[in-house]
Amino acid sequence: MSIEIEVLNGDASWPVAEPLMEAVWPPHVLQKLPWGEVVFAHADLRVLVQSEEQGLLCHVGIFRREVTWNGRKLRAGGIGAVATREDCRRHGHASIALNAAVQTLRHEGAIDFGMLFCEPHNAPFYAARGWQLYEGEVYAEQPEKGRLRFDVLTPYIFHIRRSPLRGVVDLCGLPW
Ligand SMILES: CC(C)(COP(=O)(O)OP(=O)(O)OC[C@H]1O[C@@H](n2cnc3c(N)ncnc32)[C@H](O)[C@@H]1OP(=O)(O)O)[C@@H](O)C(=O)NCCC(=O)NCCS
Repeated sequence: MSIEIEVLNGDASWPVAEPLMEAVWPPHVLQKLPWGEVVFAHADLRVLVQSEEQGLLCHVGIFRREVTWNGRKLRAGGIGAVATREDCRRHGHASIALNAAVQTLRHEGAIDFGMLFCEPHNAPFYAARGWQLYEGEVYAEQPEKGRLRFDVLTPYIFHIRRSPLRGVVDLCGLPW
């Protein structure tokens, strides 16, 4: 099976991504998750792994954000909404898409570090791919609630130009 990997504008490619997002996180599944009610940002870019026969196999969202770390402005490259079709898992698609996302962030030239938030059971997947646990505090915004501590998912950092691993990160907006 030949696959195609594309990095596309986030809004324009949402119609392609949406059915996979709905299939992986349908409302009844979301309802039971500790982060099910969190309002997340929309991706600026999307890595799409597709095959001609099966359509979209895997998705990774890319988010560019000026955050603060201990009060200092830094450029974070966010990764989120990592998902592979259930019947296509364990074939390396997410690894390929994640790698393409990190390469995209690197090539942007202005990104200081990659950052993602995951459920503890997915942490070994990211740790095996070079991501490091962020041991500090994370703050983010939520509609009507304002700025609050974001601790329902576990933060991981990928070194690009620096690796902040402790301290206070303010996402200065919605989480991803
Ligand atoms: C987490 C998730 C995205 C992984 O997607 P995937 O496409 O199966 O990921 P990969 O195939 O790249 O890697 C998964 C495992 O399969 C293994 N694998 C990769 N290619 C393989 C192959 N050809 N044969 C057997 N195993 C393989 C990898 O080594 C990896 O195992 P490891 O983590 O122990 O190293 C997927 O399980 C998923 O969509 N889960 C539900 C949504 C979710 O939780 N997303 C994460 C949000 S943070």
